[in-house]
Amino acid sequence: MKPTFQLPNYPIWVGPLAQTFPAWFESAGYTQVFLIADAETRKHCLPVFLQETGLSADVPGTTIPAGEHFKNMHTCAHIWQDMLAAGLDRKALVINLGGGVVGDMGGFCAATYKRGVDFVQIPTTLLSMTDASVGGKLGIDFNGIKNAIGLFGDPVAVFADPIFFNTLSDRELRSGFAEVIKHAIIGDAELWDQLQQLNDLRAVHWPSLLKASIAVKVKVVELDPFEKDLRAVLNFGHTIGHAIESYFLNTDTPLTHGEAIAIGMFCEAELAPASTRLPRTALAKLLRRFFSFRTIPVEAFPALWELMQQDKKNTSGKVRIALPDAEPYRLHWLEPAFVELERSLTVYEDTIKAGL
Ligand SMILES: NC(=O)c1ccc[n+]([C@@H]2O[C@H](COP(=O)([O-])OP(=O)(O)OC[C@H]3O[C@@H](n4cnc5c(N)ncnc54)[C@H](O)[C@@H]3O)[C@@H](O)[C@H]2O)c1
Ligand SMILES: [Zn+2]
Repeated sequence: MKPTFQLPNYPIWVGPLAQTFPAWFESAGYTQVFLIADAETRKHCLPVFLQETGLSADVPGTTIPAGEHFKNMHTCAHIWQDMLAAGLDRKALVINLGGGVVGDMGGFCAATYKRGVDFVQIPTTLLSMTDASVGGKLGIDFNGIKNAIGLFGDPVAVFADPIFFNTLSDRELRSGFAEVIKHAIIGDAELWDQLQQLNDLRAVHWPSLLKASIAVKVKVVELDPFEKDLRAVLNFGHTIGHAIESYFLNTDTPLTHGEAIAIGMFCEAELAPASTRLPRTALAKLLRRFFSFRTIPVEAFPALWELMQQDKKNTSGKVRIALPDAEPYRLHWLEPAFVELERSLTVYEDTIKAGL
């Protein structure tokens, strides 16, 4: 079966694993495989994966604890140890079965083990299907900094099958949906129109929506594989969003990545000049339909500004926000001052208070 997308170095299939993976796997001819899952995906996704692909239940591999908290060097050491113990050679295939954490870290471990073994991404969250497993960015968190250590390394293939959403929580599904919204705004007016019609993520026809959303990421990556310029457009919502995510990280009520990015997109759209023609009102309405916005106290504004100073995109000490421009696949840089952040957050707070 023809891949849904063929990138320069690897194919991406969107659709039932049973129709794609077994034939690909057989023709690839790997003699050794090693499967990486986290505790949750081992429980919920591995049985589905085995059933769909016909792989034997005693496939060697390792299980890591679930969650961003474990995306670190210690977990890598554990993975590499298990790879060595399994006697993995350089001709083996590593299978990453999980969300973005398993994909980023499993890919990183595979790309560095014995100077690199092949790996395949089997994303199991909406976020990892539409975003994390496309584009070859691999890595782990270090010293409290997200994705501080890593490299660009392509998988040999990606298989995105929405069958895994059956066990994914509503909250995680919504979280990934924030990136789908982002992709629509960056490059697909038709997808954007479709999203306006949605009310229930459980009733979505995922194969077509995934294809449209992945297509935007694929196009951006093809235009700018090493993030020299345009690829920064994928950071729409992320400058303010990441600061908000970090701010709430060590509280009793952390936000998911997508929840933080939803707020970030709202605020960044508020700052966008009219020339970008960002659909501000429609975006706010769509975000409000799917995300329950959290109040951000005024006292937090300076702390958020402080966090934004650490953003990777900044140059010469200035905070930079990457916005989609009026034309699809165009980037518009903004260099806001603190007062503008304050203004956008005040509009955000007023919107919550008004119950809009
Ligand atoms: N490489 C990139 O370009 C890129 C892009 C975006 C995000 N990321 C990374 O992705 C990570 C976030 O990914 P994520 O949101 O998938 O988080 P995740 O991998 O932590 O998964 C979220 C939770 O859902 C569970 N889970 C996964 N699939 C499931 C399923 N089908 N059923 C039940 N439970 C399931 C996981 O065990 C985990 O507890 C971050 O570390 C981020 O840095 C990378
Ligand atoms: Zn994101």
